[in-house]
Amino acid sequence: MHLSLQRHPIEKVESAVLILPVFEGRREDRLGLGELFDSGEIAGKPFEMTLLHNVPGIQATRVLAVGAGKSGKFTAAELRRTIGAAIRHLKSKSITEAAVWLDSPHDGVDYVSAAVEGAILGEWDAGRYKTDKKPSKAVERFIVALAGGGPHLEAAVDRGRILAEAQNFSRDLANDPPNVLTPLVLAGHARAMAEEFGLDCEILNRDRMAQLGMGSLLGVAIGSAAPPALIVLRYQPATVSSAAVHLGLIGKGVTFDTGGISIKTADGMEKMKYDMAGGAAMIGAMRAIAQLKPAIPVTALIPAVENMPGSRAQRPGDIVTSMSGKTIEVINTDAEGRLILADAITYAQSLGCTHLVDAATLTGAVVVALGHYNVGLFANEDALRERVMLAARSEGEKMWHLPLEDDYKEYLKSVYADIPNVGGRYGGAITAAMFIKEFADPTPWVHLDIAGTAWLDDAKPFMAKGPTGMPLRTMVRLAMDWQP
Ligand code: BES
Ligand code: ZN
Ligand code: ZN
Repeated sequence: MHLSLQRHPIEKVESAVLILPVFEGRREDRLGLGELFDSGEIAGKPFEMTLLHNVPGIQATRVLAVGAGKSGKFTAAELRRTIGAAIRHLKSKSITEAAVWLDSPHDGVDYVSAAVEGAILGEWDAGRYKTDKKPSKAVERFIVALAGGGPHLEAAVDRGRILAEAQNFSRDLANDPPNVLTPLVLAGHARAMAEEFGLDCEILNRDRMAQLGMGSLLGVAIGSAAPPALIVLRYQPATVSSAAVHLGLIGKGVTFDTGGISIKTADGMEKMKYDMAGGAAMIGAMRAIAQLKPAIPVTALIPAVENMPGSRAQRPGDIVTSMSGKTIEVINTDAEGRLILADAITYAQSLGCTHLVDAATLTGAVVVALGHYNVGLFANEDALRERVMLAARSEGEKMWHLPLEDDYKEYLKSVYADIPNVGGRYGGAITAAMFIKEFADPTPWVHLDIAGTAWLDDAKPFMAKGPTGMPLRTMVRLAMDWQP
């Protein structure tokens, strides 16, 4: 998508469509919209679309009045969604160019970035393997137009582009079918991205992981003919301060989760291709971090495996020894995410990471608890939790703090090993987090269970069905806002 910034009066904006956000309870008088407000045809309700032709006195060929809700609640996150919806609407009408008009006070850097992000995110769809694509169904040029605006707006356009392109890159990875996107192919994408954007990349193979004692991760991988990989991406700021902050981002990279011997039912199993969405989000976050250059070092670690049944697969009852030395009784081979995260976390600690955040499509239980609207957030330290929550709020990626208390350890007892890989019937998202905590402690750590939020089953006005890219933007902001 070609992007530009125009500083003109509204009448002078040149584009095939001029998108104008209109607000609930606030009569819009410009561009001949007053009468439509009076008649009730336009109410300003979120995502309401009114396309007008031949509006007199303006350069733009058409006007798209797009409902934006209450103006007092119109945050940058709302603008991102509004523009996403407008672009998806125009795309369906084969319109290839659009400009958005931003009025004060909605014309600062955060709004300009969010408008660009909304356009690029709205452009994405899940049909890349369809062969009958109409080439014209894409908005190819997007203009942010405003009367004057403050400084740094060009940089804000650039930041929005970097973030949204990273997010779409991550969505493409999560959307790829599991026969195409195996662990080694995911590693190949990470390596190519690292080369393009100047990150250090190391891929640990099965032998190297065995040397390091990663029995928990390798136990999951053993049932698959596709070899595992531990992907490590490193960003180092140009001037390394002496402050000892080193952020580690860990993403679950199960390229397909059959459940293993504890096999899943057939219904909906095809969706388990997105069981690497946490890994894809962290790889995408590193793509943006490489370009936006935060002040702190960041390392991403993605344990990539396929969870398959078979004659060599791990069994319920197996006991594996993790890199940390702790032994784990594998009660259910479908609780594989926590097994691979455990070793990736221990490895992150051995690389010197001082703060850890993991993102994982970890449990069905978090979907029961929070539905599809909030990421389940768990933490063993308040300060890091607050940083992540703050970043999430600014990015409009909703997260809800769930408890991690020692009481729940009662649910995680094994007679035969140090810890079982599943708790009982209750609090499934919490016991999964408690399991990971055993490996993360004492390093400050936040766990994000994204099973309910990494994939949209039905399209939203502003976003296509399929992978969402969550929580990529929160991770990038977390790194960017961190002053060492
Ligand atoms: N990948 C699944 C979790 C999941 C479920 C992700 C639904 C997305 C949507 C995970 O590996 C899993 O199977 N978890 C089990 C854990 C159980 C065996 C304790 C689950 O949630 O059922
Ligand atoms: Zn599973
Ligand atoms: Zn899984």
